[in-house]
Amino acid sequence: MKSILVLYYSRGGHTARISRCIVRRIQQQGYRCEMMGLLEAEKEGIDWQEWDAVVLGACVLYGTYDKSVFAFCSKYQQQLDQKAISFFSVNVVARKPEKRIPENNRYLQKFIELSAWKPNDVKIIAGKVDYPSWRWLDKQMIRLIMKITDGPTDTKAVIDYTDYQEVDGYADHLATLVPAN
Ligand SMILES: Cc1cc2nc3c(=O)[nH]c(=O)nc-3n(C[C@H](O)[C@H](O)[C@H](O)COP(=O)(O)O)c2cc1C
Repeated sequence: MKSILVLYYSRGGHTARISRCIVRRIQQQGYRCEMMGLLEAEKEGIDWQEWDAVVLGACVLYGTYDKSVFAFCSKYQQQLDQKAISFFSVNVVARKPEKRIPENNRYLQKFIELSAWKPNDVKIIAGKVDYPSWRWLDKQMIRLIMKITDGPTDTKAVIDYTDYQEVDGYADHLATLVPAN
């Protein structure tokens, strides 16, 4: 049975939710598939031999990714070069379809530029606006980003922009990328 490990960094839980959808879909295809947060992966360690392929996903925070994402990519560059088949970026600017095109999404370009591991396959997924769960300062800052990009500015707004059919399609695509044993 082919196996895929989905590694993710999530600040507020939405990237974890998307990862769970990917895992379920891949499992439905008869693959072994599990997910692991980067923090857990660092603490518990990863048995790289156990997996045919690895996928990495992370949310965008203030135009970039948590430093732990880049640290992970540096530390495990060799293993990622061998096993990782795709990277997905979760951000709310991607609620606009044109920002889901890799060349048009500067957050994705930033990842490719700064990460020691350079993914061959990439996906941009629209994330979630969740003002009530954000801290006061984050709320104000994201409101500013939203103002600039014509997004929602009502601090009561909770809007999930993720297209879950598109996520299923991405999961199906991932399954096709697993190398033959
Ligand atoms: C502190 C903070 C900063 C963010 N900065 C950006 C940003 O610069 N651009 C963007 O498109 N989305 C930004 N977002 C939106 C997140 O990428 C989006 O809410 C995502 O779904 C969060 O995923 P998570 O729940 O896994 O952390 C930001 C969110 C937070 C909480």
